[in-house]
Amino acid sequence: MCLAWSLLGSDKMAEKVVSFTRMDEGTYEDYQMLASLEHEYCDGTADRILGQLEGQGRESLTGYKINRLEHGLQSAARAEYDGADIDWIVAALIHDIGDGLSPQNHDRMAAEIIRPYVREEVSWVVEKHGIFQMKYYGHHYGWDADKRDEFRDNPYWQSCADFCERWDQMSFDPDYPMPPLSHFEPMLREVFSRKAWDETHLKPGVVVGLPEDRHPR
Ligand SMILES: [Fe+2]
Ligand SMILES: [Fe+2]
Repeated sequence: MCLAWSLLGSDKMAEKVVSFTRMDEGTYEDYQMLASLEHEYCDGTADRILGQLEGQGRESLTGYKINRLEHGLQSAARAEYDGADIDWIVAALIHDIGDGLSPQNHDRMAAEIIRPYVREEVSWVVEKHGIFQMKYYGHHYGWDADKRDEFRDNPYWQSCADFCERWDQMSFDPDYPMPPLSHFEPMLREVFSRKAWDETHLKPGVVVGLPEDRHPR
């Protein structure tokens, strides 16, 4: 359950408000009321994620040939073209959503956003993609491009290597056909409407891997 701090000052809070000014003085009724408002607020997660992605189309890292929204769209489009499942497609769409607020650990921020709703394999890949991506450019900065080898024994290693190789590092191409965000919206809404932390979609330990690569090389 997420806290409803951001409801403070909203119309809803004008109608319903707790009796306390410090949490340890809250009553049972206060917390029941908050729980129902928080449930409603959590249902809006997909809307807020869509808003963040749209924002990446207006303001994001400069210097690339496409913006970060387009990079996410292209990554997701590549995943979809390859016949990937919905967990992979939505993960590809949002894997860089942390760039704006958390540029030094954007990968982990994105992973925490999606972790309650997708396969463990997929959230691990999102979490580690920043390290795995260094393979392609780390040497230009004098970094350890093979740092990802520290995770060689992890069952999800190959999935992350493939995600980066085929979808992430490839998706900076202004000529690749990219559908609009609305194309992926139903998938995003489906994933974020799942019951959080439900093992039926977390599937701990299950390795699905990426589907066959359908892109010409
Ligand atoms: Fe990234
Ligand atoms: Fe990326």
